[in-house]
Amino acid sequence: MLHHGGPPDLAPHLLMRCSNRRLPRWLAVPVVLLMILCGATPVAAQDVPAAAEMADRLKACAACHGDEGRTVGDAYYPSIAGKPARYLYNQLVSFRDGRRQHRVMAAMLRTMSDRYLGAIATYYAARPHARQPAFEGATAEQLAIGERLTVAGDASRNIPPCQDCHGEQLTGVQPSIPGLRGLPTRYLDAQISAWKQGQRQAAAPDCMGKIARSLSGAEITAISAWLASQPYPDNAPPADRLPHEQLPIDCGGVLP
Ligand code: HEC
Ligand code: HEC
Repeated sequence: MLHHGGPPDLAPHLLMRCSNRRLPRWLAVPVVLLMILCGATPVAAQDVPAAAEMADRLKACAACHGDEGRTVGDAYYPSIAGKPARYLYNQLVSFRDGRRQHRVMAAMLRTMSDRYLGAIATYYAARPHARQPAFEGATAEQLAIGERLTVAGDASRNIPPCQDCHGEQLTGVQPSIPGLRGLPTRYLDAQISAWKQGQRQAAAPDCMGKIARSLSGAEITAISAWLASQPYPDNAPPADRLPHEQLPIDCGGVLP
């Protein structure tokens, strides 16, 4: 199964045991780095396996992203289960190719083909999404500013309402737009800020970069706090289509 040299079984078994027992977060990075250094990561193979075997190969990802890609709590690691497949694929390609930054993930994905990344994306997209509890630390002012900007946008600054692209319930739109519910507030804040600062990029034209640059830091924090305060709607997978026929502004990498 392992296509690299080095001690073949040790690292995957170590990681499997750890992830079954809920690997402490602080251990995740050193353990995964150890695996990469040993050349023994179980996800480096290029052939595309069936779902059950895929789950086994993705144990290394579970160290940070939780069982089947579901993280819960206000840890920084985003859930990836149940997100639109093309969105997940675009992210994996972005981490591998440097449009998004994460050293450990970039190292893990470095040798993986587009086809294999596609299979990983399909696997996670088919898992049930996480049920993230609502964030309770937002101030009344943040909630008011966050709700106004999310729901109505700001036409004077060319900021469309977020749901025009992220779906009526903000649970995403198939196949390439992610939901904004059920994510930790810290993660949301960091992602929008990264776009504002040019550290996260999507395929051109990068509509999120444009929107993020129009928002102040305090507005980004308010939007993130409001979004994370919303309970995850029951039975709400990503929508099949956009609320309006077209995107309000163009976004690259978004398939019809
Ligand atoms: C050491 C911890 C760690 C490991 C191991 C890890 N990830 Fe991640 N992953 C992260 C973090 C942190 C982020 C958010 C990075 C950022 O700030 O942009 C992330 C982001 C992602 C995203 C984007 C999520 C989104 O909503 O945009 C995907 C998809 C993903 N990881 C898949 C994987 C897969 C597949 C693996 C295994 C091959 C993996 N990750 C292994 C920590 C990890
Ligand atoms: C014109 C369409 C459009 C609008 C309007 C829009 N977005 Fe997005 N957003 C996207 C697309 C497309 C992506 C996926 C980009 C990628 O592939 O990395 C995205 C991704 C995101 C992500 C990353 C989610 C993750 O899991 O990492 C966040 C956060 C986000 N948008 C927040 C917002 C907020 C907040 C608003 C409203 C102020 C908003 N977006 C308005 C199109 C839009």
